[in-house]
Amino acid sequence: MEFKEMLDEFAGRVADGRLIKATISGPRRKSEGLQRVRIKPVELRGELHVQFEYQYERILKHENIPAGEVRSELGRLLGDFRQVQASFTGEDVQILLSKKLKVSWKTERTENAASADLSHDRKKKYLLEEGTPYPFLVRLGVQTPNGKVKKGKMDKFRQINRFTEFIDDSLRHLPKDRTLRILDFGSGKSYLTFALYHYLKIEQGLDVQVTGLDLKKEVIEDCRQISADLGYGDSLEFLVGDINDYNDETQVDMVVTLHACDVATDAALARAVRWGADVILSVPCCQHELFAQLDAPELGVMLQHGLIKERFAALATDSIRAELLGLVGYDAQLLEFIDMEHTPKNIMIRAYRTGRKPDVQRVLRYKQFRGLLGADPFLERELSGRLGDILK
Ligand SMILES: C[S@@+](CC[C@H](N)C(=O)[O-])C[C@H]1O[C@@H](n2cnc3c(N)ncnc32)[C@H](O)[C@@H]1O
Repeated sequence: MEFKEMLDEFAGRVADGRLIKATISGPRRKSEGLQRVRIKPVELRGELHVQFEYQYERILKHENIPAGEVRSELGRLLGDFRQVQASFTGEDVQILLSKKLKVSWKTERTENAASADLSHDRKKKYLLEEGTPYPFLVRLGVQTPNGKVKKGKMDKFRQINRFTEFIDDSLRHLPKDRTLRILDFGSGKSYLTFALYHYLKIEQGLDVQVTGLDLKKEVIEDCRQISADLGYGDSLEFLVGDINDYNDETQVDMVVTLHACDVATDAALARAVRWGADVILSVPCCQHELFAQLDAPELGVMLQHGLIKERFAALATDSIRAELLGLVGYDAQLLEFIDMEHTPKNIMIRAYRTGRKPDVQRVLRYKQFRGLLGADPFLERELSGRLGDILK
């Protein structure tokens, strides 16, 4: 078979949606550093694309190309490699390429079936797979250069994956026609900020502008260095600052705040609401505010025990946060972030903006709950402009 004919056959199968996966290996010129290329179909903005994953010695790069336009990239790659192993619907194909680009094409019939619904299929497994090296996870010390999760880092890997699932679920609530503006408040060492950027920008090919903000100067400097090493450029920035003073935005699409201490979470939530964020993902951390306020003789049987009082205050705080978000036009849910066995900080407040006004019953229910606890929540005060007179 001639090289050109092989290319037509291969690109034709890809364009027809028959590709399941393929690996191009055996580089002719080791000096160029590209060791292998994995390709697989992905659905981006409702259209079939092919993701090319370029494996270099230390890093991995991704590029998504519409399925009908892969011929020239395939041609370029197949001229530089000796072997292709591909699975298509109904067949496995092995291609060997000689020095003079003579082609051996072997087909084996199989029961392979391409997935009709890629986005659905992707959700059944981890979004980030063990064994695949992700540059940010390698750089952050979670994975080895060949993709193995390092000893002691499995919990982190799972947490990052779980967070990525939340990001993936929220995609349908975000605008599709412009650069997505995303803020991560209290980003700290920024494992999750890098994960968010990697998933949206590299895996999903979305246009994003992400900012991580934290009080700690040295930590932010480290994050900037890591981002520069990974070549992430201007679309991921890290700023030193206090959430309480950060008022620079007018429109934000997603606000993330993970494990920010005490009412720093509330300051972040209030800003997200003010900026009309479509998606809010928040995992609160230590909560002291309500603990100090709790004054509920009716609950004395519980609250007499310090341990119970602390846990109750934390649960009531998150319930109040979710309810207040509901009162200002969000569909807010409290969900398990990661298994309780890993950390007690496992409640995720996930809120999608709906703009719906609350009914009278809901307002009344909130006022009664707040009254019962003797609570004066920081978030309610922060949201007073939005809540207007409804709680008067
Ligand atoms: C426990 S770490 C969490 C880091 C990261 N979000 C994560 O989940 O892995 C909490 C971070 O919030 C930051 N933080 C707390 N209060 C803050 C505030 N008012 N403004 C900015 N950052 C704050 C701390 O400096 C710390 O780095």
